[in-house]
Amino acid sequence: MSTQKISLTRYLVEQQRNDGSIPSQLRLLLEVVARACKGISQSVNKGALGGVLGSAESENVQGEVQKKLDIIANEVLIEANEWGGHLAAMASEEMDSIHLVPNRYPQGEYLLLFDPLDGSSNIDVNVSIGTIFSVLRKPEDNGQGVQESDFLQAGSQQVAAGYCIYGPQTTLVLTVGNGVAMFTLDREQGSFVLTQERIQIPADTKEFAINMSNQRHWAEPVQRYIGECLAGKEGPRGKDFNMRWIASMVADVHRILMRGGVFMYPWDKREPEKAGKLRLMYEANPMSWIVEQAGGAATNGHQRILDLKPAKLHERVAVFLGSKNEVERVTSYHDAA
Ligand code: AHG
Ligand code: MN
Ligand code: MN
Ligand code: MN
Repeated sequence: MSTQKISLTRYLVEQQRNDGSIPSQLRLLLEVVARACKGISQSVNKGALGGVLGSAESENVQGEVQKKLDIIANEVLIEANEWGGHLAAMASEEMDSIHLVPNRYPQGEYLLLFDPLDGSSNIDVNVSIGTIFSVLRKPEDNGQGVQESDFLQAGSQQVAAGYCIYGPQTTLVLTVGNGVAMFTLDREQGSFVLTQERIQIPADTKEFAINMSNQRHWAEPVQRYIGECLAGKEGPRGKDFNMRWIASMVADVHRILMRGGVFMYPWDKREPEKAGKLRLMYEANPMSWIVEQAGGAATNGHQRILDLKPAKLHERVAVFLGSKNEVERVTSYHDAA
């Protein structure tokens, strides 16, 4: 067996050669995003020594107080991606509106969306956080340049999606629609090395992830599903369940990719619009595609998330994703309600 390490670069080149699923501009884009994640990882690792912890004095379009690292990560991604000629525009959790590639640079064929720093509440307590990204093709130019409406494509239109988790290891997880591959950052070499391919989420699980403090606000189908899990062996499910909630979607989804589980951020009764907390375009869509590519499922309780047509850039959505049989079960409880 070969002991040769396969770098992200080599993996992408070989994918491009084998089945053409990664055109060269997309390959460049993915390499640039990976490089930016390496930079963010360095800032995260420095923590207090780099002066990157704590809040900035600003609020984002979601009404959240921005952490310094939310802003730093956003800037790193923009600066890395502006000049390469692979992008037409970007959108981010931390920017009110889309960011066009400046005129002085060539314009590429792709649109990049990101949650630059996921799990902001965990930054200052040294718990895993991450970056989530989604890549769309820019629609045909209608002569008006790139507009926000060009981004409003269903998740099924994504051409690449991934996340990077800054945890005990820095790990990049990627799909281009050909299964899910995982790369671990080799800090000595400074490169991402392939450490797992064709990741599969088991269809069944005994582990759920939800913020239980919101229980009293949930709708009936979620009450029923979690109630049955909590009833354990003696209840209708006939088995005991375990619970985990890291409060970084990246870390909760990563655990599910590694050992199965179901992740839920449901709509709750405090929200008139029946959305959820998580953002469709740069959290739910990329994570849903990754999970589906690993044999799991992702719905908003009623529909497949990847089929939803976004109405606005910062749209929010209820999320149920992970082990297929559990996601189908909690979705069927919504259908029955
Ligand atoms: P972000 O830090 O990018 O704003 O996202 C936070 C999200 C997600 O990562 C996590 O699953 C969820 O918010 C945690 O929410 P609670 O604090 O309500 O548990
Ligand atoms: Mn946020
Ligand atoms: Mn997030
Ligand atoms: Mn974020």
